[in-house]
Formats: sequence, C-alpha cells, structure tokens
Amino acid sequence: MSEKPSYYVTTPIYYVNDVPHIGHAYTTLACDMLARFKRLDGYNVMFLTGTDEHGQKVEKSAETAGVTPIEFCDKVSSRFFELLGTMNFSNDDFIRTTEERHEKACQALWTKLVDEGHIYLDSYAGWYSVRDEAFYAEGELIDGEGGEKLAPTGAPVEWVEEPSYFFRLSAFEQQLLDYYEADNGSAVMPKSRRNEVASFVKGGLRDLSVSRTSFKWGVPVPGDEKHIMYVWIDALTNYMSALGYPDMEGDKFKEFWPEAIHVVGKDILRFHAVYWPAFLMAAGIKPPKRIYAHGWWTNEGEKISKSLGNVIDPFELVDEFGLDPVRYFLMREVPFGNDGDFKRESFINRMNGDLANDFGNLCQRTLTMTAKNCDKKIPQHGDFTNTDQEMIDAVYGLLPKVRQHIDNQAMHLALETIWQQIGSVNSYISTEEPWVLKKTDPERMATVLYVCAECIRNLAILAQPIMPQSMAKMLDLLVIDEDKRSFDQLGEVGRLVPGTEIPKPSGIFPRYIAPEADA
Ligand code: MSP
Repeated sequence: MSEKPSYYVTTPIYYVNDVPHIGHAYTTLACDMLARFKRLDGYNVMFLTGTDEHGQKVEKSAETAGVTPIEFCDKVSSRFFELLGTMNFSNDDFIRTTEERHEKACQALWTKLVDEGHIYLDSYAGWYSVRDEAFYAEGELIDGEGGEKLAPTGAPVEWVEEPSYFFRLSAFEQQLLDYYEADNGSAVMPKSRRNEVASFVKGGLRDLSVSRTSFKWGVPVPGDEKHIMYVWIDALTNYMSALGYPDMEGDKFKEFWPEAIHVVGKDILRFHAVYWPAFLMAAGIKPPKRIYAHGWWTNEGEKISKSLGNVIDPFELVDEFGLDPVRYFLMREVPFGNDGDFKRESFINRMNGDLANDFGNLCQRTLTMTAKNCDKKIPQHGDFTNTDQEMIDAVYGLLPKVRQHIDNQAMHLALETIWQQIGSVNSYISTEEPWVLKKTDPERMATVLYVCAECIRNLAILAQPIMPQSMAKMLDLLVIDEDKRSFDQLGEVGRLVPGTEIPKPSGIFPRYIAPEADA
C-alpha cells in the first residue's frame, strides 16, 4: 500500500456501437486533467477508462455488420484505445466488460445482492429502449411525430414482456437521500443536478428489472443462465472490477475504494447517482465519494448527431490544430458542468490569444532576451523591488487556489486562475520594459527577466495537467530537471538557479493561420 493519499477517478465506459467523438474525448480529458494534477500534487492515483461492450444494441450492430459480437467489440474498442494515445491520456488501466476479470466481478456482485435478499424473480411488462438501454414508465414517454411512443430522450421504445429478476431499488429511497445530503451534499455535483436526482428519488422508486431473456450478449445470471444481466448492472460494476473486486482485501480495492470520483455526462447521471449507490448499499459496500455530471457539447449551435453529419472527430481536430490547443480549449471554454458550444472561431481565438499571445509570447520574449543579453544563462538578479516580490508571491500562492478548483471539478476555473496570473506577468513585463532597461540599466533588466522566468517556471509546472507536452517543452527550455516538475517544487524550493545555461529558445505555441483558400 502506498504512503501517499489515494485518488481514484473514472470515466464512463464507452459503448462500442459508436466510434469515438468529441463527447468521449471530453469526459476522458477531464479525468486526465484531474489525474495528472493529483499525481503532481503527491497522490497515488488510479485513473480508469474502458469500453462497455455488452447489450442488445451491440448484439444488433454486430449482426448488421455481419461479424460476431466479440469481433465487433474488438474492432471498436481498439479505436477507443487509440484515442488514448492521440489525446495523451494517462489512464492507469483500460477495462473492457468482455474481460474475464469483469464478468467474474459482475457475477460476484450479483450473488451478493441475491444473498442479501435484494434480488427476486418476477416478470417484467413495460417499455424498454434499446438505444438508451433503459426501462421507462408509461408516464415518462412522449409522443413521436407519427404518434408513436418515444423515450423522454427521443429514443424508440418497445413493449417488453418477459420473466425478469428485479432489484429492490424501492427499499433504498431514504438511504439514497441521506447519501445526497451527507458531507455537505458533495456526493453528487453540480448542485443543480443533485437536486434533480433527489427529486426523482423523492418521487418514489420502483424496483428495477435487472435481467433480460431476449438476447444473449452479456454476463449470464449465476445459476439461471437464460437470463443475461441488465447492461447497467454489468457496466457500473467496471469501477470495482478494475480494482480486483470481489477481492475486497486486495491492495487495489483497499487503496482506492470508496475514493472513486465518477465523471459522467448529464445523460447518465441517474444510473450513476441512483442505481449504482443503491446496488452498493445493498451489497454492504460504501458508495462512491463523488459523482460529477458534466454538460454536453453542441457544434456551432446544433445538437451533435450522426444523422446531421456534424459529429466532431477528435482525431481530425488534433490533426488540424495540434493536441494541446484542443485539450486547453475543451477544458477552458465551457464551465465544467454546463453545456457548451463548439465554435471554430472561439477555438482559434483561444489558440492564438490565450496560448500563442499570452503564454507563448511571454515565454518567448523572456527567454530570447535572456539568451541574447544574459550570456544564454538564467540571469543573475539584484535585489527585488516590492513589485517584483509581489509578482513572485502571487505566483507562489497559486497552488492552493488551483487545487481548490480541481477538488470541485472546476477545471475551467483552475485554468482561469493560472491564465489571470499569466496576464499579470505580461503586464509586469510591459511596465518594467526590460527592452528599454537593456540600454539604461542592464542589472535591473536581468532582475526583471529573472522574475519573469521564475514566474514562467511555476506557471508551466501548474499547467502540466492540461498541456503536458507543451509544458514539458517549456520546462526543458528553462532547464528544469524532470524530477523537479511536481508541485512540491513550486515556490522558493525549486527556484531557478542564476547562471544555469539555457538552450536556444524556440516557440511553444504556434499561431493558427487559416490555410489559403484554393483559388
Ligand atoms: N456505456 C455508457 C456508460 C456506462 S458507464 C458505467 C454510455 N456510453 S456512451 O458512449 O454513450 O457515452 C459516454 C459518455 O459520452 C457519456 O458521459 C456522455 O455524456 C458523453 N457524451 C456523448 N455525447 C456527448 C456530447 N455531445 N457532449 C459531451 N459529452 C457527451 O453512456
């Protein structure tokens, strides 16, 4: 077991009936930023993602594609796996629900629920949406254009009548409400979403159908193999199977459960904030520490959908703009938790403004002047003025503020805080005018450049979780050893050593220049 505090962050596992798009990249990126931050902040981190491969939908898609379900899953799952490399995600594990370790965990959880008396056999008659993999009550349905019944999400529903096992969800209303209230309501965030979930629960919970007999592609119910587990029991269990469940005495489980922070899209909050904690409570296992629901992206104001042909492909985006600008934009542009619109123009503004102009130029200016005028060395500084000291102190004081935002999953605020400080250093350099001091007071110029370089070192260390590659380059330019880049090096302890030779500076953030239109 590690001496360090534990931090466990998970993405939803992605359905393999779709290729990866911006929505998937977004959730995983948020988790990646959290995981990277916590590693640099001294935590023992476990960051999990993976693919959700069972269910009727996959069975149907495989059939349409003329391949076996597992062949189908292997192919699509590998595309999600590829996305991890393209986006530079730092996950510690990748779980597929078709793996043996996972099926074993599902069956163990099921057996435990049976042993505790929370699962019983009955029969189900009601509405089911294959697309949503969800059961709906009559009252929840809406009318389609042709008068047909649709799920509240607009997905088609079918009337299902079959024998089914049920989970005693109705028995957990009060425990769930207590869970939402505990620890100042920090279990389900943001608050508006917690309120929605709580009112859903207060409205009364019906027992949940948790097995199907009409398809085969899934985890068989132990002892009654005609039944396949409802895909959400199967899918949600991934968060524990990756920790070695049912071995609850194993190091991983002991270390990381119930520390889990599940980051999910708002569309799947109910499964995570109602069903999942209830399954766990029923099995005598502590529910997760936090479930955070983020919003959805639209594309230039339109809902993203395959039929509209406006799906944003993360591979293409990275190809066109480069990785780190994409990572930065997605986390900076929209408050995490809110819906957001992907506008090309806003993207280019952020790329050229926040990155190339604000941070890139600051670094380029400082290091070019240093290389030219300070003998290619970190400058020897004189006494700091009050202004110098205030600048340095403000940068040294950033970590607790940024950390607080990260602990609230407010990635946009963490970045805003860092970029405000970048703005202050830019104002400082413009006011101090080292390019003028060069002629009038070279010693003072050296001090100003030192202050800037030291601020850049701290800012680059703090910005690593969002832009690991570019910040590594920036820290290389400042000759910071790889083992001196964690947050314990922020501030005085890791300060730049005057006289250290620096390499020839090079640009970190290219500006986006629109390709010439064909004549
Ligand atoms: N397989 C389930 C999750 C099981 S977790 C135990 C699933 N998969 S999914 O592939 O359909 O969706 C995964 C995530 O992508 C969800 O969190 C969803 O909110 C997110 N997004 C899908 N489209 C999105 C946008 N347009 N914008 C932002 N996120 C979106 O649900």
